[in-house]
Amino acid sequence: MLSPALVDELRGRRVIVLGDLMIDEYLRGEVHRVSPEAPVPVLDLRTTEHRLGGAANTAHNLAQLGAHATVVGVVGDDEGARTLDGALRRAAIKAETVVDPARPTTRKTRLVAGGHQIARVDSERRTPVSGAVAAALGDALERALEGADAIVLSDYDKGVVTRDLARHAIDAGHRRGIPVVVDPKQRDFSVYARATVITPNLAELERAVSHPVHTLAEIDAAARRLAPALDGAALLVTRGADGMTLYRGGDRGAHVPAAAREVFDVTGAGDTVVATLTLGLAAGLALEVAMELASLAAGIVVSRRGTSTVSPAELAAAVAPSRG
Ligand SMILES: Nc1ncnc2c1ncn2[C@@H]1O[C@H](COP(=O)(O)OP(=O)(O)OP(=O)(O)O)[C@@H](O)[C@H]1O
Ligand SMILES: [Mg+2]
Repeated sequence: MLSPALVDELRGRRVIVLGDLMIDEYLRGEVHRVSPEAPVPVLDLRTTEHRLGGAANTAHNLAQLGAHATVVGVVGDDEGARTLDGALRRAAIKAETVVDPARPTTRKTRLVAGGHQIARVDSERRTPVSGAVAAALGDALERALEGADAIVLSDYDKGVVTRDLARHAIDAGHRRGIPVVVDPKQRDFSVYARATVITPNLAELERAVSHPVHTLAEIDAAARRLAPALDGAALLVTRGADGMTLYRGGDRGAHVPAAAREVFDVTGAGDTVVATLTLGLAAGLALEVAMELASLAAGIVVSRRGTSTVSPAELAAAVAPSRG
């Protein structure tokens, strides 16, 4: 079913990522002493690194796979906005950002000593954007929609993906006949009704049904219970080392086992799944085929330390031995 030539079909697609943009900041150094002020280590700073996070990491995955990615989201009126802007530009990602003076640019700062994280500092505001900011986001979305082949709602529940904005994006997808893929974080999945596919991990599925979900039978039951609220949206449950399972109308369909043989770093695998799945759908592949491609891409990122994106050449190489 999959062929390396298929990977070429993913190139050049125009994809909008609407959601919560973040900066992942790494302050690396060494600890040689305890602070005289309090019983805490003092980090002697050596290097500072900024990476694209949240919705911006999904866009980064899309761009690395050869797509033309445009992010639509909010930033603060601060230094973080300039840092994010520079990182997006370096990654060749187009930005339709709206400045929200009421919040900081979302930033997660890790203090790393000798390779070990010793603390994390989050700078963010998690309330829904105001009416004026939501209206500006709607305008930004309209500008980005021109010529778009797919839309991703990359929702980290920081306030950008309001019910109205989700509706705007999903309706636009239907009107233009392009797929809308949702990486959900809100409890109420009815916000994402009529999207093409919603991709919760197990924790997100548990929140949506308000009880623990572990076994396949429990996942089946959760999918069945959520189906009416999704109004036709497919559900792709990503299950970590257990791979991913697709539901349509509450009925279990295709399952793809995890592709990874070695696992080093699973952070960001979900973003890689969403990006690859979206490009597969944008290229006209069936969900069942696009999810196989997404699984192979996830298998590559989890087997590596550091980077969290996949190139077309790497994906094509992973497709080749998987045939037959
Ligand atoms: N431990 C693992 N072993 C093998 N494959 C894995 C592992 N963890 C994740 N994967 C692969 O990555 C896919 C997505 O992972 P997961 O279900 O953890 O998503 P997620 O929780 O949304 O990730 P993220 O932390 O990026 O948000 C899985 O379906 C699987 O293909
Ligand atoms: Mg995720």
